[in-house]
This record gives sequence, structure tokens and C-alpha cells, in this order.
Amino acid sequence: MPDLVRITDVSPRDGLQNEPGVIATSDKVRLIELLCAANVDEIEVTSFVSPKWVPQLVDAPDVIAGAAAFKPASSRAGTSAIAFSALVPNEKGMDGVTLANSGRSPRVIDKVSVFTAASETFARRNTNASIAESIERFAPVIRRSHEQGLRVRGYVSTIIACPFEGPIAPDAVLSVVDRLLDAGVDEIDLGDTIGAATPETIGVLLRRTIAAGRVSLSPEAFTLHLHDTRGLAGACAAEALRLGVRSFDSAIAGLGGCPYASTPTSRAPGNIDTSLLISVIERAGLRTRVNAEALRDAAAFASRVVGEARASATPRNHA
Ligand code: HMG
Ligand code: MG
Repeated sequence: MPDLVRITDVSPRDGLQNEPGVIATSDKVRLIELLCAANVDEIEVTSFVSPKWVPQLVDAPDVIAGAAAFKPASSRAGTSAIAFSALVPNEKGMDGVTLANSGRSPRVIDKVSVFTAASETFARRNTNASIAESIERFAPVIRRSHEQGLRVRGYVSTIIACPFEGPIAPDAVLSVVDRLLDAGVDEIDLGDTIGAATPETIGVLLRRTIAAGRVSLSPEAFTLHLHDTRGLAGACAAEALRLGVRSFDSAIAGLGGCPYASTPTSRAPGNIDTSLLISVIERAGLRTRVNAEALRDAAAFASRVVGEARASATPRNHA
């Protein structure tokens, strides 16, 4: 089993998408640049979703244009290229990715991430579609991504619990995994959207996933995406490492949360903090490629920028 663990920092996307204050495009670009300096394996740089649904990420094309300036340099500097990925819910989002990459060599976006859920209610709230409808929308996205040489990640949200339906059975998760693989995604990412997992429940789900045999736990094929609501994400990551998971998503400074996982009384929780994740990995006797000092710089920058935006934002309802 490899001792190197793959880190995808999702802070420019998941980390910022639920922030109420306006974050300047130049700050998002700087954040991506600092994450490149920290040498994470992959950065989820933005989303090509409807700006009516996620206003914070309306500047996706400009973020990509800004990141294009240092992507080639960062690819040359590291021992391996840092992959950039973006969330895409439908063909219109794929149009955005295609345009953002066109005429740029090397391309800026390397991977497209489609997303659905194990809970029908959450899928509807997040994408205005049933699970089946959301996967139907992915067919042309996956085809066009592959034609353009881009990998496709398939996210399954609400793998442990849904904020609206409650606990989710592992069978429901595995059925969506099967449907995404049948649709042609190259890798699976399981998301504990509201940070409901415990080491026990994540262990049950991962053992079921391994036993089902449809997806390997190699870092290229499988990633775990934890949110940290109750301080258990570190323990969940430790259990996942023990069971063989070698690829995780995280966000610097623990930023993040899906706006459509918020309820009137609780704001969606942040992602597992990248530095916490790295300390869990190191305690397990494993390693990452991340430069800890540069990561601290990125986290300090993100905390400052988000703090300033929050301070100037108008308070709003969580729903
Ligand atoms: P809809 O309202 O049904 O879409 O939303 P529509 O096709 O009727 O279009 C409505 C408007 O949006 C139209 O504009 C479209 O052109 C536009 P209008 O004519 O009214 O001016 N539109 C778009 N604009 C830009 N890019 C697009 C796009 N698509 C339509 N791609 C839709 C359906 C899927 C678009 C919407 O529900 C949506 O954008 N949802 C995204 C929500 C989201 O981003 N949630 C957070 C990410 S998921 C997450 O955080 C979980 C994860 O972290 C894992 C975990 O933690 O579990 C990944
Ligand atoms: Mg998330």
C-alpha cells in the first residue's frame, strides 16, 4: 500500500462558495497561487455552476484566466504537475470549462467534477434535479471531457446523513457509485456533506465499498471528502487511512460548506482543515508532498481575506 497520500485542496471552491461577503477575484487567484506554492496535488479552483445558485463563484472564467498565468510555471517547478479541477453540473458548465481552456497551452483545467448525492432531497435542493436526472445531465459532460482529454471525478454527497432526510444507508451510496461509474466517471469522491460521520460509520461504509469491489481505493480512483462539524473528521480520516484510503479533499483554515446543506438553524460545516489532515496522515506514519510552511502562508492569507469579507457582509439567513 503506498505511503504517499494525495491531497486535493478545495478551498477556492468549497471553501469560498458559501461565504456571504464578496471575495475579490484577485484574492481567489492569489489563494490558488499560494496553494501551488504549498505543492498540494490538486486544487479545486472554482465551479461553473449557475451564478443564481452560487453567486460567490460567478467569476469562474476570470479566476481561470488569472490562474493561467502561473499554472505552467507551477507545473514545471514541482516534481509532478499540480492538477486544477472545477465543478460542473451540466452542459452549460462544460461550455464554460471548454471556453476557459481554449487557446491555452498547457490547459488550465485538467479535471471536471460532476456532483450528485445519495439523498434525493439533497440532490433536488442542490441541483434542482433527481439523482437520475442529475446523472443524465452528466452524459454529455463526461463525453466532452474525455474528448478534450480531461479526467472526470464523480462526487456523491450526503454519504452518511442528509440534512433533510437523516441517516443514509450504505446501499444508497453504493448504488449511486455504480451509476456514476456506469456513466463513465474516472474516479469517485464520497462526500460527508454535513460532517455527520464517525469513525464507526465511515468504517462501515468504506468496508462495504471495498467489499462491493467496483472501485479500487487507489488515490487515482477514490477520494474521501470530509466536513468537520463535531471535531470527528480527523478521527474519520485516521480510520479511512487504516482501511487503505490514500486521497483526501480538505480546505485550508477549515473553510467551506455547501450552501444547500445549510438549514435555517445551522450553517453548513467547513471542510476538514488541510493542516489537521496532514497531521493525521503523518501520525499514521504516511506522508504527503505538501510544504507545511507554504501551507501556513496560504491559510493565513485565506483566513484574512475571508475574515475581512465576513466583516463587511450583510448578515443573512442560513437557508
Ligand atoms: P436550474 O435553475 O434548474 O437551471 O438549476 P436552469 O437550467 O433552469 O437554468 C437557470 C439559469 O441558470 C439560466 O439562466 C441558465 O442559463 C443558468 P437565466 O436564463 O435564468 O439567466 N445556468 C447556468 N449558468 C452558468 N453555469 C451553469 C448554468 N446552468 C444553468 N452551469 C443548476 C440547475 C444545476 C444549474 C443549479 O442547481 C446549480 O447551479 N446548482 C449548483 C449548486 C452548487 O454549486 N452547490 C454546491 C456544490 S456541491 C457541494 O458543495 C458538495 C461537495 O462539496 C461534496 C460534499 O461536500 O458532499 C461537492
Ligand atoms: Mg463539500
